[in-house]
Amino acid sequence: MSEYWPKNELSKLLHLDFPIIQAPMAGVSTPELVTSICYAGGLGSLGAGYMSPYDIRKAIELIRMKSRKRFNINLYCYKPLENQTASMKAQGALNPYRRKLGLSDKIDIPELTFTFDDQLQIIIEEKVPIFSFCYGIPSKKQIEDLKNNGTILIGTATNIREVIELDKSHVDAIVLQGAEAGGHRGTFIGDWKDSMIGLMSLIPQAREATKLPLIAAGGIMNAKGITAALLLGAQGVQMGTAFLRCIESGVPNCYKEALTKFSSHTTTITSVYSGRPARVIQNSCLENLAELPIAPYPYQNMMMQDVRKKCEELSRLDFIPLYAGEGFPLISDRSALEIFYDLAQSTSLLFKELKQKN
Ligand SMILES: Cc1cc2nc3c(=O)[nH]c(=O)nc-3n(C[C@H](O)[C@H](O)[C@H](O)COP(=O)(O)O)c2cc1C
Repeated sequence: MSEYWPKNELSKLLHLDFPIIQAPMAGVSTPELVTSICYAGGLGSLGAGYMSPYDIRKAIELIRMKSRKRFNINLYCYKPLENQTASMKAQGALNPYRRKLGLSDKIDIPELTFTFDDQLQIIIEEKVPIFSFCYGIPSKKQIEDLKNNGTILIGTATNIREVIELDKSHVDAIVLQGAEAGGHRGTFIGDWKDSMIGLMSLIPQAREATKLPLIAAGGIMNAKGITAALLLGAQGVQMGTAFLRCIESGVPNCYKEALTKFSSHTTTITSVYSGRPARVIQNSCLENLAELPIAPYPYQNMMMQDVRKKCEELSRLDFIPLYAGEGFPLISDRSALEIFYDLAQSTSLLFKELKQKN
């Protein structure tokens, strides 16, 4: 099936049958999703950004028990900004909602119990085969330690300055996150608003700026999207939203239902759920939260946890961030394997047709 795909250095680097990466999605990508995609010949990724070092190690053990294939673990690479005044205000503003949901008031600012460095230590100790990251670049020493273990490194860029910095830092490949992408913006140089570049423009510019393999992410939902990204100059794709409704995805049922219920809605960028800009589906619940004061990331995300969990229990969407990319109305609820094989086969057919036409 893969013989019609363009010859590809990314597939060689990552040992893939098809250069399709299931996006790391913190809180959504389960070990089951990761191993299904690895089994199918793609790269499964675990978004471990919110996980404690202990839980990351456990998840790696579980993935290794289920599969012998190479897998990817992803972290958020950042140093938290302290802003206790904004955080106190934001915490207090949630109390009226807590009362409505039968929860107790909170006034304390949550404490961070681990850092990116603590999480990364597990990636190094476990000699993870592939490590991807966003929001920044690990230190020189961390990159050296990872490389000494033979770990393949994949950074995330949303603009050309970030592509150049990642290239200089000796990563092995770069995810280009287009403006269409679901979830958080990975921007780490400049304001995120200045880096809302669609993949159609971003891929060819990045192709000029680096020789590293490029992985296109954002709005790719089907074989035509994959083919277009590869023709534009990417060597692979990273798809998140396409797997949100699949059986193995960890999103709560009310979120899965909302992905079909709101299929005529558009998406927007908001920081209200976590303190960092992220693409979510527009809906009346989000409009209700628009005036809330927001604490810096990750405090806002941590403060929202109790209300979010309660809403999940009650199947209420009030505080559930409906992270999704612009192409979300196109997704389906099949198993990850079915979705993956369909993508791989339909893309092969498109490349076969292109070959025959030329
Ligand atoms: C629910 C959700 C969670 C995400 N979490 C992460 C994450 O933990 N780490 C990361 O690098 N990217 C994350 N992303 C962004 C993806 O890596 C990728 O850029 C995006 O899914 C591509 O756009 P698409 O959703 O339109 O396919 C997330 C995306 C979604 C939809």
